[in-house]
This record gives sequence, C-alpha cells and structure tokens, in this order.
Amino acid sequence: MRRAVCPGSFDPPTNGHLDIIGRAAGLFDEVIVAVMVNPSKKGLFTIDERLTMLTEIIKPYPNIRVGSFDGLLVNFCRDHDVHAIVKGLRALADFDYELRMAQMNQKLSGVDTLFMSTSPAYSFVSSSLVKEVAKYGGEVGHLLPPSVHRRLIERLAR
Ligand code: PNS
Repeated sequence: MRRAVCPGSFDPPTNGHLDIIGRAAGLFDEVIVAVMVNPSKKGLFTIDERLTMLTEIIKPYPNIRVGSFDGLLVNFCRDHDVHAIVKGLRALADFDYELRMAQMNQKLSGVDTLFMSTSPAYSFVSSSLVKEVAKYGGEVGHLLPPSVHRRLIERLAR
C-alpha cells in the first residue's frame, strides 16, 4: 500500500489544505493528515479541535485518516509506514524553506517530499491570514469548509 502524509498545523484547516489533501488522496492508496503538536506554540484551536475539524471535512474521502505527532515528522513516517510527504506550494515564498525541509527529511530518512501546486483559487490562503481577517470582521466563509467557518466564528465571538 502506498501511503502519504500531509503534515501541518491546521489551525484551522482551510480550503487550501482540503484542496491539497483531497488531490493527494487521488494519488495514493492512503493519506494521513497529521497535525503537529507544538507545545511552545499556542494556537487558536486545541489539537483535539483541529483533529475534530479535519475528521469532519475528510468524511467524503474513504482513504484519508487523521492523526497527530510531536517531534520529527520522519519518525511519524517510520512509525506509520509512510512513503511520501505531500506539501502544497502556494508561491515562490514557500519554496526556499520547504525545499530545505524536504532535503533534510530525505537525508534523515529516505522519505521523499512531493510538492503539489496549490490551486490558483487558494494561492493566497493561509490559516494565519484567515484568522486575522476574521478577527477584524472580514468575510472568510469562501476560504473555509462550512463546518470550520462556523467554529471559527464561534471561537472569535468569545
Ligand atoms: O502548517 P505548517 O505550520 O506550515 O506545518 C509545518 C510542519 C508541521 C509541516 C513542519 O514544521 C514539520 O514538519 N514539523 C515537524 C518537526 C520536524 O520534523 N522538523 C524538521 C523538519 S526538516
């Protein structure tokens, strides 16, 4: 079975994430969407909330499951028999850091990273920008799965 991982913070998952993981699911037998647990970075949503949101939005895809990891991504790949890391590339600005991480991960473990070009409709979308726009009352409903949008609005209203 060819298994890939789509790693990230997913705080919260956006339509840009869903675009990449859905397309990855068409290329691999199984895709694991893996949320990084980073205790030094407090997010808007807890890890459990992110896993719940991801579980809701991947329902239409029978070959996607969700998980979380701390520490090195390559250890997660080893423990879950993952053969490839799939990342979305939005623009040139993403490339330098992503390339260095891909090369490091390849050197550490032999696991390759495949870069998928983000659909142009989402090339400007990031979780942090979406949160900032929403925080100041801007409309972000077209950038998020409806269930995620609902949770974001609820969270910011607190
Ligand atoms: O959504 P993000 O925050 O851009 O995701 C970044 C992520 C989680 C994919 C990246 O930081 C990562 O892989 N972290 C795991 C720790 C690790 O393996 N670091 C070494 C990378 S060479």
